[in-house]
This record gives sequence, C-alpha cells and structure tokens, in this order.
Amino acid sequence: MQELLLHCRPGFEGEVAAEMQQRAGELGIAGYPVAKTGEALVRFVCPQPGDAERLIRKLDFRSLIFVRQWALGSWLDVPAEDRISPIITACAAGPLASELWLETADTNDGKAMAALLKKLRAPLQSSLEKTRFLRPKKTDLPRLHLCFESGQRVFVGWSWAENAAPWPMGIPRLRVPKGAPSRSTLKLEEAWHHFIPRDDWDSRLAAGMTAVDLGAAPGGWTWQLVNRLMKVTAIDNGPMAQSLMDSGQVEHIQADGYMYKPKRPVNWMVCDIVDKPARSSALLARWLSRGWCHEAVINFKLPMKRRYEEVIQCMEHVQKALDAAGVEASLACKQLYSDREEVTCHARVKR
Ligand SMILES: C[S@@+](CC[C@H](N)C(=O)[O-])C[C@H]1O[C@@H](n2cnc3c(N)ncnc32)[C@H](O)[C@@H]1O
Repeated sequence: MQELLLHCRPGFEGEVAAEMQQRAGELGIAGYPVAKTGEALVRFVCPQPGDAERLIRKLDFRSLIFVRQWALGSWLDVPAEDRISPIITACAAGPLASELWLETADTNDGKAMAALLKKLRAPLQSSLEKTRFLRPKKTDLPRLHLCFESGQRVFVGWSWAENAAPWPMGIPRLRVPKGAPSRSTLKLEEAWHHFIPRDDWDSRLAAGMTAVDLGAAPGGWTWQLVNRLMKVTAIDNGPMAQSLMDSGQVEHIQADGYMYKPKRPVNWMVCDIVDKPARSSALLARWLSRGWCHEAVINFKLPMKRRYEEVIQCMEHVQKALDAAGVEASLACKQLYSDREEVTCHARVKR
C-alpha cells in the first residue's frame, strides 16, 4: 500500500496536490501527487514502502483544507464477470475492517455508477463477512473503502475513524431543514459538524448564547443560531425572513457588516458576506483580537487561481494579528461539501 486516495470538490485537485505536497514535505515524507482537473480524486504516491501509512497516521486529517476524505491502499483491476474475488484477495493485504464504504468520485461519471454499487453492496458485504475481513461488531477497526473509478477498476483502501471524515467520500447527508429560508443554512450546520465535536454542542452551541450574523439575509445561518435558541443580531441591508423575526430571538440591524461593533462581546460571530478573502480575514482578525467574540465561522470566497496559497496567506494574516494582540486561538479552514468556490474558517479563542 503505497498511496493515499484523496477526495475533493471537482476543480480543486490542484489545491489538494499543493496541500499534500507541502504537508508531506513538512513531515519529511517523500511523495508526489497525481491529479487531473475535474476528477475529484487525487492520488498521493509515496515510493518508499511504509511511507504512505506513516503519512496517513501522522498527518492530522482535520488540519487539511481541501481534502474531503482519504484512504490508504492500492488500485485493483476487477473483471466484470467476477469483481468480488479479486477484492477479497486484495483485502488480505490490509487490516481487518469494521465497515464497508462503497465510493466513487464526486463527478457525473461517479454518480452514473450508483446502480452498479447498489448491486454489489449486499454480495460484497456478505463475502467480506464470511471471509472475516469485515467484523461489523468491532467498531474500533478501520473502515474498508472501495472507491470505483469504473466498473473495472477500484481503489481498495482503509481509513481510521479518529483521523478521517465520518462520512463516505467526506459527504455529509444533511437536509435543508423545514422552515430554513435559504439552502446556505447547510453551510453553517456542516461547519459545526466539522469543527465542533458532537459532545461539545450542548456547551458551545447553547441556549441563551449571543451571536452576530454579518451578511445575514435572508437568514439561513441565523436560522441555525435561532434553532439552537441563541439571541441573534442579524446585520444586513437586505430583508430577513419574517418567520425568523417572529421568533423574537432576532434583532435585525441594517448596517455595513464591516463597520458594525457589538455593544458587548458575543459568544459567536458568523459571516457569509461575499468579498475578497483578504477583507474577510481582516474582519475575522479584528473580531478576535478585540475580544468581540469567543468563537467564529466565516467564509473565504476564492474566485482566484492560486487558491491554496490565498487561504494560507489569510490564515497567516489572522494568526499574526492574534499574536500581536496576545490572543491565543485555534484556527482551522475546510472546504466543506456545501462550499463552492470558497472555504469555511473556524476560530475559537482559548480562555
Ligand atoms: C451569501 S448572502 C448570505 C446568505 C445567508 N448566510 C443565508 O444563509 O441566508 C450574502 C449577504 O451579505 C450581504 N452583504 C454584502 N455586503 C455586506 C456588508 N458590507 N455588510 C452587511 N451585509 C452585506 C448581502 O446583502 C447578502 O444578503
């Protein structure tokens, strides 16, 4: 097993390649990316035996920005007459697993294989359980990923729950909640799933907390905050959904989000204003370094070419401002499934 397979948003393969090259280099692990634009998958090949496994164990998955999901493994040709036997043989080369995840690239070609995957699922599961490569009760074992590039070629790989995304292909199954005024409500919900451990939700997304939503209209993000029973100040010149105003938990202020200062510090600042990432990161730096919020989620829009470098620059800018202000905070960025040409940044001040 000498390579990692990485899932990403189609069109962001170059960002994953740059990111993996940089991060593997920092760990002193030699490897090279193989990426084609639009394929939504990137291979990261480590020629030295054992290096790919070292990489997936040492590199913190949560610190990766453009990688949605990953697995350690290798490619296998599978003839249409019998795909299952070679997969079972290949499983002998890896660890036992607790779960079987059938995957494809997040592309139209990948989606076209849904029927094949559906047909293969039950016989594969049963053969893997019979041969004892799959032990569904042993939840501490890794997951087995079978990622089909075509009906004849599959990546057989493994990932470990504590250092990978909790969903096949890194795609959460979230539905737009009834009553939410816009689809972008999912961005904030997904950000919370990604950045906040489930056990912390009750203390960090608690009833009675205060939040400011910059660029709030029509209110998809505000809806999420209201749903957690927070008191929200929504800043936008545009109109907010009446249902949110009727909740009694929202104060709508028609003002410029860049000029707004809260009267007293709030628990949460969230911001979905479409602007240059340098402006958004300066806004985040201001809120954190002046102690205006304790935790924040903000989107950095990325219409430019060198998107990985741009995000790193933004993060460095925020970190410098925090250092200058003597504020300690954790900072992380992720391109979520709901994010298009953008990434979501999360920050939390350490008390
Ligand atoms: C992408 S939309 C926000 C969608 C919102 N998060 C939702 O879930 O419904 C961006 C919003 O930012 C607002 N906006 C743009 N520039 C702004 C500024 N300088 N201050 C405040 N709001 C701004 C726009 O009016 C628009 O409603």
